[in-house]
Amino acid sequence: MQHLRHSTRVNALVRSIRKMEKLMLAHALAQQARQPKGLLGRLFGMGMGRMNQGVNEWVVSLLDLQPDHVALELGFGPGKALAVAERLVTNGRLCGLEMSPTMLDQASRLNRPAIQTGKISLRLGEAASLPYPNAMFDRVFCVNVIYFWAKPERELAEIFRVCKKGARLAIYIGDKDQMAAVPMTKTGLFRLYSPEEVSSLLESQGFTNCEIHRSSISQGPISRGSCVVGTVPADR
Ligand SMILES: C[S@@+](CC[C@H](N)C(=O)[O-])C[C@H]1O[C@@H](n2cnc3c(N)ncnc32)[C@H](O)[C@@H]1O
Repeated sequence: MQHLRHSTRVNALVRSIRKMEKLMLAHALAQQARQPKGLLGRLFGMGMGRMNQGVNEWVVSLLDLQPDHVALELGFGPGKALAVAERLVTNGRLCGLEMSPTMLDQASRLNRPAIQTGKISLRLGEAASLPYPNAMFDRVFCVNVIYFWAKPERELAEIFRVCKKGARLAIYIGDKDQMAAVPMTKTGLFRLYSPEEVSSLLESQGFTNCEIHRSSISQGPISRGSCVVGTVPADR
């Protein structure tokens, strides 16, 4: 009898250790998604590059980039979207801002030739405080980044400031319900949105004509997502 009670306690202990391990793994992955760091961050970046390639290409295609445009990507991660956009802005320029030095390094390697000619310029920094002058950009975009902004109004106001009249902002998010089922998003590090919520946020900061584009391009466990595209009014 005593032996049975002992093994029940041991089983309960093993179960709670396994649960704790899962929580710790989810937290470690969420931290890497929010800001990839070190060797694990490099591996995470390579995985994201492969997993998110389709979505990145789709978002760039929605930007209607013109050859002379000046565009900005926030949270470029391994730099795949910049590499796609670079082929379209033949006479223009691309800027990128990242808060992860590991990703800055990875994206710089991928885009080295365009960086050397000055067509792409990448910097370390945070979207809440953009190191660019007013009305500099024709296009601004970010893919899988808004989840990490504690007060997104702050970042969106900054983006509005650096946009030219008539500029467009594209924000990509994975499907809210599908994302909510992924353990990494239950760690408190993610804030999930529906496209309608993102659209309202954009409108609250002055963007107009917000359009919601939906896709079924998969990124790992997420098989759906949306890109919200807003415009800066010509009479801002
Ligand atoms: C989930 S990854 C997405 C990377 C890439 N856009 C993609 O779709 O593959 C989020 C990236 O945004 C960066 N990031 C998160 N918050 C940021 C912020 N406030 N300012 C600048 N970069 C940020 C992270 O360092 C990370 O590289």
